[in-house]
Amino acid sequence: MKKNLIIAIDGPAASGKTTTAKLVAQQLGYLHIDTGAMYRAFTLKVLREGVPLDNISEIARLASESQVELRNIEGMQRVLIDGEDVTEKVRTPEVTGAVSAVSSIPTVRAVMVREQQRLGKDGCVVLEGRDIGTVVFPNADLKVFMLAGIDARATRRRDELSMMGATVEIGQIKDDLQRRDDLDSRREVSPLRKAEDAITLDTSDLTVEKQVEIVVTKAKALMEKS
Ligand code: DC
Repeated sequence: MKKNLIIAIDGPAASGKTTTAKLVAQQLGYLHIDTGAMYRAFTLKVLREGVPLDNISEIARLASESQVELRNIEGMQRVLIDGEDVTEKVRTPEVTGAVSAVSSIPTVRAVMVREQQRLGKDGCVVLEGRDIGTVVFPNADLKVFMLAGIDARATRRRDELSMMGATVEIGQIKDDLQRRDDLDSRREVSPLRKAEDAITLDTSDLTVEKQVEIVVTKAKALMEKS
């Protein structure tokens, strides 16, 4: 019986990956790894250092000397850059606006992917991102590609932002999501793409409980089988 699965959850922005991955990990007693938070933390550093987003060689140099870490502190996943906890700071519109450009740089991806592979190699993990099933763990035991219509995704993001005290108009949120998905899907290195052996989960009309149940049931079936 194989208990230490690697579960890969990929999909576009606001498709429900984080909520699902977190709860699936909780129910299975697994570690949740939010790879988007890692790209965001490094993007925050690039912005703080004032490096122009088209200065690829300088951003690449910075990536090789930066330390991005995910740590579990009091049951909460926190993201750190060079030892500083930036979990809340990586959710600002400035970081969201710049992260697709920064994460399209091959050296940045190489550094992040190496760390993600180190964190996940022993299994008992749920990793979420854009390229987990295709690049980071192409041999993952279970691959899920989450989708949701633009209206459902924009509404979710608006509610999330409003919980953080920000009011953003729904049309603006839709534009931002579409712009980011477009950049993430069209980049040359490991674009957002469904792995051939991933199951598609359209969450437009699913409750969170149902989404989680579907993934947990599949994971448990795999554990019994092997
Ligand atoms: O999941 P998120 O919205 O927090 O991710 C932020 C950005 O990071 C996303 O727009 C693209 C990038 N990203 C990536 O390129 N590869 C991943 N595995 C995860 C995120």
